[in-house]
Amino acid sequence: MNQSETVDGPVPMSLLPDSAQAGPRGELQIGGLSVDELAAKYGTPLFIYDEEHLRSRCREALTALGAGTAYASKAFLCTAMARLVNEEGLHIDVASEGELLTAIAAEVPGERIVLHGNNKSLAELSLARSHGVGRIVVDSFDELSRLRNLHEVDGVVAPIQLRVTPGVEAHTHEYISTGQNDSKFGFGLESGAARRAVESCASNPGVELMGIHQHIGSQVFRADSFARALEVVVAFSEPLGLPELSVGGGLGVAYLESETAPSISEWGEMLREACERLGVKAQVSAEPGRSIAAQAAVTVYSIGTVKEIPGIRTYIAVDGGFGDNPRPMLYGSGYTAFAPTRFTEPRNSVARIVGRHCESSDVIVQEARLPANLDVGDLIATPVTGAYGYSMASTYNRMPRPAVIFVSEGKERLVIRRETAEDLLALDLD
Ligand code: LLP
Repeated sequence: MNQSETVDGPVPMSLLPDSAQAGPRGELQIGGLSVDELAAKYGTPLFIYDEEHLRSRCREALTALGAGTAYASKAFLCTAMARLVNEEGLHIDVASEGELLTAIAAEVPGERIVLHGNNKSLAELSLARSHGVGRIVVDSFDELSRLRNLHEVDGVVAPIQLRVTPGVEAHTHEYISTGQNDSKFGFGLESGAARRAVESCASNPGVELMGIHQHIGSQVFRADSFARALEVVVAFSEPLGLPELSVGGGLGVAYLESETAPSISEWGEMLREACERLGVKAQVSAEPGRSIAAQAAVTVYSIGTVKEIPGIRTYIAVDGGFGDNPRPMLYGSGYTAFAPTRFTEPRNSVARIVGRHCESSDVIVQEARLPANLDVGDLIATPVTGAYGYSMASTYNRMPRPAVIFVSEGKERLVIRRETAEDLLALDLD
């Protein structure tokens, strides 16, 4: 392994789940359990979530952002997660039939579910209406027509919010920026589409307009982006006198030691101040996803090959890759890494951590600082993988998706079992 000029300390605790601590062997423990023992029991790659961390972020969000705050389940969802969110009193934002059915399987009451999507199918809208979903966030004129047509058949009136695009840049990666005029999402404010949508609700017996919704993008660090969007939307929504205003999600989190992000409480405070300043009378709610789930989890991998190219670099290949974390490849996102069994040691060597998919783009960490002399069979972990990791996992190269466990107070439970080759073959017909 190449020795680095820089001697890095251990992975900072601020990037790890709340319950992370060093065990007696200098190994990482989460929820009171040693990560290497969990990896031996459940295999790798393995997502390990600190359940108390998830719960505490849900509670923080409820306090900071108020009743009606929804967890954006696209960040990470399984039945156990939907149940946890519901137990903690948050609503749940779903954006597909699959997410909706997961919330239903977890017995989340209909009125606590918010349905999103820029192209909701008739089947999704029907399921949502028959399940009494609390809010459908309508994204298009076509969707308004579908709700009118469904009403003609069964007489159900759907309580809705209208998603508007404020025409504000979120200062985040282009792929996850949604508030600008040129967007597939929502009704544009500048174009007058939002105004026409509000007017058309008045003559649509299939909908009851409860409020306006906006979401400017994800992994947003800058308070001024949120404040500016709020200003623009409030100028539109307040005069309508509607009871609700949703500001969406989007709060960024730190993935690297060089990054700092506002806490959920600070974000809530900033939104509250802005709403007060703007004289908002509507009940304000939000939809955090990443800020609840991201830092709750680490992904643990096993090293399979170590390849040193003299004078160039060392490649460490692990048993996962962009199948379980596509974010580096999609958005150029940076991650850090560490060795869970040598968690307290300085990380004074450098290697490129790559996956085992058949593409050179399959890189997890470009320049990872790691303890020296890691070898085949050793474990490597990446922190802050709890959001948009498993939920964006793929089976490229027919590689099964990892298992997911929740740990808490010295106990673990498997919440998503490891996918098998049989699972993949089960869809194939002769
Ligand atoms: N509400 C709506 C309507 C959304 O579209 C999203 C995220 C959220 C809430 C939650 O945003 P959060 O608090 O998690 O930032 N795959 C990308 C992120 C895509 C976000 C999509 N929408 C990534 O890995 O960075």
